[in-house]
Amino acid sequence: MSALFEPYTLREVTIPNRVWMPPMCQYSAAPEGPLAGVPQDWHFAHYAARAAGGTGLIVVEASAVSPEGRISPYDLGIWNDTQVEAFRRITRFLSAQGTVPAIQLAHAGRKAATDQPWKGGAPLGPDAYGWRSLAPSPVAFDDRHPEPDELTVGQIQEVVGQFAAAARRALDAGFEIAEIHGAHGYLINEFLSPHSNHRTDAYGGSYENRTRFALEVVDAVREVWPDDKPLFFRISATDWLEDGGWTPDDTVRFAGELHAHGVDLLDVSTGGNASGVRIPTGPGYQVPFAARVKAETRMPVAAVGLITEAEQAAKIVANGEADAVLLGRELLRNPSWARHAARQLGGAVRVPEQYHRS
Ligand code: FNR
Repeated sequence: MSALFEPYTLREVTIPNRVWMPPMCQYSAAPEGPLAGVPQDWHFAHYAARAAGGTGLIVVEASAVSPEGRISPYDLGIWNDTQVEAFRRITRFLSAQGTVPAIQLAHAGRKAATDQPWKGGAPLGPDAYGWRSLAPSPVAFDDRHPEPDELTVGQIQEVVGQFAAAARRALDAGFEIAEIHGAHGYLINEFLSPHSNHRTDAYGGSYENRTRFALEVVDAVREVWPDDKPLFFRISATDWLEDGGWTPDDTVRFAGELHAHGVDLLDVSTGGNASGVRIPTGPGYQVPFAARVKAETRMPVAAVGLITEAEQAAKIVANGEADAVLLGRELLRNPSWARHAARQLGGAVRVPEQYHRS
């Protein structure tokens, strides 16, 4: 049987296979009012379909730990109990299908308050549900984005507390795994990288200072996240900058520290923190970053980015480059990708009873 269809256990949670869905924002919640950040019918149908299709683990999209931590006013949030109640419907269904429900906890930092991507994704002013964004330093992401407000040390501590509160709510909502969003140029990534972090206090400057906020978030989340449940961290392994950015060497070093602080698996992506960089994309182009972390630290990793073919995915796992693969856009195109891959490779995924005649 292909390694893709072997179960995988982290702490006390067993994931039925290695075909996983990465977090993908749907930008489909209400922008304000009592339903702000609350999962809707769309979210339920979207996640339910990928669970029925045999996906082993679904990481629910970036869910903001505070209203101002949303990438867009239409993002999901996990800062109140109405949101928890709506997430419960999703986790219940996923668990009933044998799919492990995970959620990505996020703060968008200086890339917050933008429009839905299909409307152009431009930063929004207060007249269009926008707000002033927060960041380690008052440095805009690009010419389009406004300058963010620099977080005070008190505000940094507040955000750490928001991540912990969000983790508590995620547990209450029935999630088995929490993932901290440390990638793609959002708040945690902004602290890590010298490209976006120009602080001169305890949270900026040296590698130790730039990684302080991320580790404080990890510690605060791990404290409320039960010992029997895994914690993931998504990282951008490189800013893709020649100079002055976060590097693959930094990632390897940091992976070891994250592991020691109770992170069980590194979800290895790249980029998003520096505008205008050239990224050599192609099939599996981010896999080598994940493979290097695994080889040099022995920390479990998941690989993501242009993994679309069954043979390609199976090889990544069989070669030990990653413990699992995450398929994003391919799962948007084909919710039953895991089932098709199992047929092609000679494996099996759980099929809902209702579909046995298929
Ligand atoms: C994303 N991606 C993403 N990443 C993340 O960490 N949190 C998120 O909420 C989102 N949202 C999101 C929305 C949409 C519509 C897309 C297409 C992507 C990135 C995603 O998780 C994945 O890393 C990339 O899509 C690359 O993988 P694929 O699509 O090449 O398999």
